[in-house]
Amino acid sequence: MTGEALRSDALRKVYATRGAPPVEALAGVSMEVRPGERVALLGRNGAGKTTFLRIASTLLRPTSGTIEVFGHDAARAPDKVRPYIAVVPQEGKPFFHLTPREQIYTYLRARGLGRETAKARTEEALGRMGLLDFADRLAITLSGGQRQRTMVATVVATQAPLLFLDEPTIGMDPFARRAVWESFRTLTTRGSTILLTTHYLDEAEALSHRLYIIESGRVLRSGTAEELKRSVGGTLKVTLSGGNGLAESFRSFGSVMDDGEQVTVIVNPERLSELMDLALRSRVSATVGPVTLEEAFLRVVGRSINED
Ligand SMILES: Nc1ncnc2c1ncn2[C@@H]1O[C@H](COP(=O)(O)OP(=O)(O)O)[C@@H](O)[C@H]1O
Ligand SMILES: [Mg+2]
Repeated sequence: MTGEALRSDALRKVYATRGAPPVEALAGVSMEVRPGERVALLGRNGAGKTTFLRIASTLLRPTSGTIEVFGHDAARAPDKVRPYIAVVPQEGKPFFHLTPREQIYTYLRARGLGRETAKARTEEALGRMGLLDFADRLAITLSGGQRQRTMVATVVATQAPLLFLDEPTIGMDPFARRAVWESFRTLTTRGSTILLTTHYLDEAEALSHRLYIIESGRVLRSGTAEELKRSVGGTLKVTLSGGNGLAESFRSFGSVMDDGEQVTVIVNPERLSELMDLALRSRVSATVGPVTLEEAFLRVVGRSINED
C-alpha cells in the first residue's frame, strides 16, 4: 500500500463520440492526494473535472494511465476501491420517494453499518447540515439546494476514508455552503480525505489545503492558494478606469491586464503610493484590493473561470 490516498499518473480519457471527432477530456493528469488532505480540482466548464472524479470513483474507465486509491487500481480492481470511497456525483439527486432522514439511514445501512451507528450518524448529519426542518419530507418536495444538501449529508455521514464531491455546493445559499465547508473540515480532522471539484474560487480557497488548476484536461498548476496567489507577482490589485492608454502608462508597476473596460495592475505595497499619485495626476479613478485566486487563475489559464 502506498502512502497516498489517491495517486494518478498520466491519466488520459478520450470519449468516442458518434459522428464527431473523439474528445480528449483528460490529456495526462498526474496528481496525488495525501491522507487527511482536502484537495480541490479547480477549472472552468469542460476542463475535465467530472471525468477525473468519475474515473477515480470507478464509474468510468480511463483510456490510458493509472489511478490508485489507497494503493488499489481503480480501473483494474474497482471492488477493492469501493469500500474506501463515497461519492456525490455532479447533478446527483436523492431518491424522490424517500425523506432525507430515510435516505441517509438507508444508504448507511446499505454500506454495512449497524442500526445504532446508522441512526446516530443520520441524526448527526441532519443536524450539522441544517436539514432537521425538512428531514421528514419527501425529497420530491424539496428545493434544489435542499436536495443537494441531502446528497452531501448522505456522503458525509459515511465518514468514508476518501470522499469525492463534484461541485458539492452548487445551488446552495451562503449559509448552507458554510455548513458544508464546516462539515468537510470536521471530517478531515477525524481522518477522512476529501477530493472535490469546484469552479467557485472562494470555495477552493476556503476549503482546500492544496488545489490543482486544470484546463483542457491538463494540470496547469498546483499548490496552496497562497502559493498560487504569490505567483501573480504582487499582493495588491489596483483597478483603474476612465482613461485611454492606461495599460501603457502603468506597465512599469507590475503586470497589467486590460479587459477593454478596466485595467488591472498587480503591484506590491512599496510602489502603491507612487501608482496612486500617477492615477491622480492622470485623472483616473483607482480602487485597491488584495490579489485573489481570481487573478492567479486568470494568469495561469489566460481566461476567467466563468468565461465559456
Ligand atoms: N460522455 C461524454 N461523451 C463525450 N464527451 C464528453 C462526455 N462527458 C464529457 N465530455 C466532454 O469532455 C470534456 C470534459 O468534460 P467534464 O469532465 O464534464 O468537465 P468539467 O466537469 O470540468 O466541466 C468536455 O469537453 C465535455 O464536453
Ligand atoms: Mg463537471
